[in-house]
Amino acid sequence: MRDITTALLDWYDVHAREMPWRVMPSDRKAGVLPDPYAVWLSEVMLQQTTVAAVRDYHRKFTQIWPTVNDLATANDADVMAAWAGLGYYARARNLLKCARAIVADHDGTFPQSYDALIALPGIGPYTAAAISAIAFDEPSTVLDGNVERVMARLYNDATPLPAAKPVFMDYAQRHTSQKRAGDYAQAVMDLGATICTPKSPACGICPLLEDCKARTAGTQATLPKKTPKKPKPTRHGIAYIARSADGAWLLETRPDKGLLGGMLGWPTTEWNDDPAGLEPVSGDWIELPDHARHTFTHFHLILRVHILVLAHDANPSRGHFIPDDKFAPSSLPTVMQKAYTLAAATLRTL
Ligand code: ADE
Repeated sequence: MRDITTALLDWYDVHAREMPWRVMPSDRKAGVLPDPYAVWLSEVMLQQTTVAAVRDYHRKFTQIWPTVNDLATANDADVMAAWAGLGYYARARNLLKCARAIVADHDGTFPQSYDALIALPGIGPYTAAAISAIAFDEPSTVLDGNVERVMARLYNDATPLPAAKPVFMDYAQRHTSQKRAGDYAQAVMDLGATICTPKSPACGICPLLEDCKARTAGTQATLPKKTPKKPKPTRHGIAYIARSADGAWLLETRPDKGLLGGMLGWPTTEWNDDPAGLEPVSGDWIELPDHARHTFTHFHLILRVHILVLAHDANPSRGHFIPDDKFAPSSLPTVMQKAYTLAAATLRTL
């Protein structure tokens, strides 16, 4: 086999995508390495999320909290609000835990090795490999969805995911660059994101075209194989959107454990097959005709939306009022923003 590592790195030298947290290959060759804080933040944000969606969030986080020390001393609620809309909110809770551990146990300096990184809260094998390779050039091998796809095709291996992960890891390790580990990690992910794409891969311009066993066999579009997932169930709930007489909004910080943990949102019932009503304050609630629909990792959610304007001050059993001028719908998780959008037109005119 031709040297795949060299082919990939030569391609990356010309085609590396610019990203705010990335040091381009020409600068890395001159000895510049990226800020590990910026790399860590990007890798946590990029899990399950596209580069396009992450850019603005990464900019916002590094503007508000330029160093890991700043983030470690941030208010939990501010960090959760800044993360709102990115999804998978456990990532934001773990981000804070990790920042605080780096300050408490490592004097605010990122540890460099895979072994030290993986010992931190919220850093798993992928993130430890990505940070140690990209920020410190340790020859760790990253395996994300992009890399799995590239390896499945390069080796024309039809073993289905997720069982195939260790096999694909073995392939990826064979090609990991010892000298340019950071560039290799980013090169193989860029290749998967831009050329070796899930649908209609651009094989004609692929630097690994001659090496790709799937391309020779014509199977590239069918790989990687995946063990079918169970269909997602649908759960139902009611979101209660109330305004006080002076226009404040009744919101609740959700418990740290569980879905949307630590996020601000509308009080809701439990989410199940047939939720029992659980108004946070009594009144003549109005049910809106439309529902807020959202898909989570393991289920679809249909939220009915009940709204209320309180005639006079009331003592809700849950939540707290946030004045209109302090309330930013963008600080809510997406499903709560959807419910807000349905309710806002009516509630702002009642
Ligand atoms: N996806 C996740 N992390 C990435 C990175 N560092 N480069 C390119 N794509 C990525």
